[in-house]
Amino acid sequence: MNAVEARALTKRYKDVTAVDRLSLTVSEGEFFALLGVNGAGKTTAIKMLTGLTRPTGGDGYIFGHSVTADPRNARALTGVSPQETAVAMKLTVRENLELMCGLYGLDDRSGRAHAIMDKLSLSDVHDKAATALSGGYRRRLSIAMALITGPRVLFLDEPTLGLDVLARRELWQVIEGLRGSVTLILTTHYLEEAEALTDRIGVMSGGRLVAAGSAGELLDRTGAKTFEDAFIKLSGGEA
Ligand SMILES: Nc1ncnc2c1ncn2[C@@H]1O[C@H](COP(=O)(O)OP(=O)(O)OP(=O)(O)O)[C@@H](O)[C@H]1O
Ligand SMILES: [Mg+2]
Repeated sequence: MNAVEARALTKRYKDVTAVDRLSLTVSEGEFFALLGVNGAGKTTAIKMLTGLTRPTGGDGYIFGHSVTADPRNARALTGVSPQETAVAMKLTVRENLELMCGLYGLDDRSGRAHAIMDKLSLSDVHDKAATALSGGYRRRLSIAMALITGPRVLFLDEPTLGLDVLARRELWQVIEGLRGSVTLILTTHYLEEAEALTDRIGVMSGGRLVAAGSAGELLDRTGAKTFEDAFIKLSGGEA
């Protein structure tokens, strides 16, 4: 069964079609990158697949559960670290994690918080307020909050946004460490990272999925020499 499936998934706002009949499948355990220039529709697609906004057409499925007809079960299998991270700034790392457990009615809050802090190397900062964390650690906390409910699919919307090159490398190691234990779908503007680290890449442009495949397949299809050139061609630019 596919971990994630979109079938003609569409979101129309008044004067813009943010996502236009998006169809794609992601297998269980796969690490999938969704690429596209600003405004291509990546965040809107993720918001629909995670139940944060309702499609105006088509549907999305998480392990077969429709995000429109069966949103509770779909959402129960899903974790998301949004583009604008949603951590409680005044609370400490541990408190943020325990708060998530509370929101989801999970028992053994302290045990769960410890386990996830261990996994994401957050233990050293467990009693720091989120506001005092660097951008890289704040993002790590956001990912830990998304993972603490034990999702089978994790969406990461621009996890490396605004991070310096060292923090970015460290965070990529953390994300790499999740490979296999959860199906991963992420967006990024760092093409070399998507190329090196993910199994398959989808390129969106103007709300539509214009191509999907391995980095090598996208290179072959476009006849480009570098992945950046391939991406620019697929996005409708001159390469
Ligand atoms: N709530 C909204 N109301 C109206 N238009 C919206 C809304 N949310 C997104 N849009 C529009 O939908 C299109 C897609 O936006 P979206 O945020 O999904 O793009 P993105 O690929 O995530 O871009 P970025 O790389 O900048 O994060 C844009 O034209 C955007 O202006
Ligand atoms: Mg976005």
